[in-house]
Order: sequence, then C-alpha cells, then structure tokens
Amino acid sequence: MAGEEPISFDLDGTTVRALPGETILQAALRTGTEIPHLCYKDGYRADGNCRACVVEIKGERTLAASCCRTPSSGMNVATKNERARHAQRLVVELLKSDVQQGSDYSPASELDHWASFLGVDKARFRPRQQPLRDLSNPAIAVNLDACIQCTRCVRACREEQVNDVIGFAYRGAESSIVFDLDDPMGASTCVSCGECVQA
Ligand code: FES
Repeated sequence: MAGEEPISFDLDGTTVRALPGETILQAALRTGTEIPHLCYKDGYRADGNCRACVVEIKGERTLAASCCRTPSSGMNVATKNERARHAQRLVVELLKSDVQQGSDYSPASELDHWASFLGVDKARFRPRQQPLRDLSNPAIAVNLDACIQCTRCVRACREEQVNDVIGFAYRGAESSIVFDLDDPMGASTCVSCGECVQA
C-alpha cells in the first residue's frame, strides 16, 4: 500500500531511503546529514515555525521546511547548497538577534549550536522587546528573554499533557508565550507537571 514502503530520494547527491512516514529532516538525521532545526523535537508534532530547517527541492519555487515535508520517490533535495545555507543562516541570525546580550540563557543553547554550525557570529538586527520574567510559580521560573517562539512548550502542554494552559498570544513583535489569559504562571491553571521545562 502507498506510504507503507520505504522510498528512495536524493539527499545532497546521495541516495537515501526514507522509512514510511519519515520527514526529510528525520531521514537526514537518521542517515547522518545535519540540517539545522530548532522548533522540531523528536516525539512532538512538527510545527514548522522556526524555518531553520529549510532545504531546496529541485523543481520547487520556494524552499521547504524539512521537518514538515515527507520525501517522495526520486525527489532531489539539497540541504547545504548556497540557497539553502543562505536562508538557514539568515533565519538563525534573525532568531539570535532576539536573544539580547546579557540575558541569562544558557550559552550551550541549541540556537548557539546551530549558529556556530552555520558560522553565524553576531546578529546584525535589533532585538525585540522580550517579556519580563515571571517568578510567580514556586516550582518553575519563567524567563523568556531568550524565547524564539518555537512553541515546543505550547505543544508540550497542549498536545502531550493535554493541559492546554500555555498559549501563544498577540501579534508580530508583540507575540508572546502566555499562561491561560496571559495570567502569571502561579495564578494560572498550570499543574507544574514540568513537560514544558523539558521541552
Ligand atoms: Fe523545521 Fe523549525 S525545525 S521549521
């Protein structure tokens, strides 16, 4: 039956077999090709919102998010040609610009890992205004000063734990992770399960 057999496609000039249901990113990672990725997390639904994982697919006008795209037989995918790398670098640089200097984020973050992988040093863009920290919950401190809105925490809360406390509110540069109706975490319906922390 269609979709239940492995298929072969070309990944950076090498023939790769993708298992049924695997995305380009999953097939690439399993076979040893690194593609930058930030919002994707193994075991969670791919959301395709950071765009760090974009690749070029021969014959397609726009780059595709490899975390959301399943390969088809004979597809020709470039993960590190000039166009793909240029886009990946720009995405990571833009995201890095939101992480203001002096923030408390871990210097061993995934964002820094991919920035170093792609040779992105300092970001040229002005940072956005990040939300103030929220220390209202006795068990979990919320510090979003390095948040890139990957929404892993939203998916963790909503789709894994089915608590649906964490949401994504407002628009554009004002967009923010919120608890319930933008309540302090300690006053929200959060049960402190910690799924968002590990995500
Ligand atoms: Fe694919 Fe974020 S990892 S869009």
